[in-house]
Amino acid sequence: MSASRSGFVSLVGAGPGDPELWTVRALRRVEAADLVLYDALVDAGALQRLTKAQCFCVGKRAGRASVRQETIHRLMVRAARAGKHVVRLKGGDPFVFGRGAEEAIALREAGIAYEVVPGVTTAVAAAELAGIPVTHRGLSTGFLVVAGHTGEALQRAIGGVRPESVTLVVMMGVAARAGIAATLLSCGWRPTLGAAIVSGASTAHEWIWTGTLEGLGDAAAPADVPGVLVIGDVVDVREALVATARPEVMYGGS
Ligand SMILES: C[S@@+](CC[C@H](N)C(=O)[O-])C[C@H]1O[C@@H](n2cnc3c(N)ncnc32)[C@H](O)[C@@H]1O
Repeated sequence: MSASRSGFVSLVGAGPGDPELWTVRALRRVEAADLVLYDALVDAGALQRLTKAQCFCVGKRAGRASVRQETIHRLMVRAARAGKHVVRLKGGDPFVFGRGAEEAIALREAGIAYEVVPGVTTAVAAAELAGIPVTHRGLSTGFLVVAGHTGEALQRAIGGVRPESVTLVVMMGVAARAGIAATLLSCGWRPTLGAAIVSGASTAHEWIWTGTLEGLGDAAAPADVPGVLVIGDVVDVREALVATARPEVMYGGS
């Protein structure tokens, strides 16, 4: 895109990690970009192969702090004002715990044209790739996605929910799994209810643990790979799916 045309920002979801799970639109935007600002969970190697754009990681990497949110806003606005097509490539879906709406508001306030390209969210895909459906007839008619990194937020989110009435998907909650399990048990969720940890879904670092809610606190999980907790009867469906999967359908081992 030439610098004489007005700039534009695409806020693009990159799915759980594997570039094969990008949408067609995400792929097209990346191919056409002048500048890509990507999160740490995006496959940087694939990105470099797919675009001639300048690519900068603005996420948290190898112990280094992530770029401040205001700085990301400034980078997007400055490049768009210089006529560039900027792709802000974010893990999963931009509007699911992704601060995508904050970035959209900042662009709008700066008078920059933008679009949002939805992505495959790990809130659903991580469980799915492990062979766990977030809903299943007869077992779960709904699912609740909550952030687990603060106990208070979790308590608020599940406070009004009848125990076990929905599948619970907890993002950013692996490190706090013991506290989360204790909270649910104290709210009346049954100790033998199915529970799973799915980390690094769709990546080479995939890790799956399945067990029960009472075992969740002591379950092993990699500390440096992002993961979701899935809590509900649907976890038990995994056994049937894994046993019946065609050889080319890969479900990781527990
Ligand atoms: C800041 S949130 C971003 C969520 C993202 N916008 C989405 O829609 O998936 C980061 C959390 O997403 C989850 N996550 C991201 N990538 C993952 C993956 N490949 N496998 C499992 N969970 C993942 C983890 O719960 C992680 O703590």
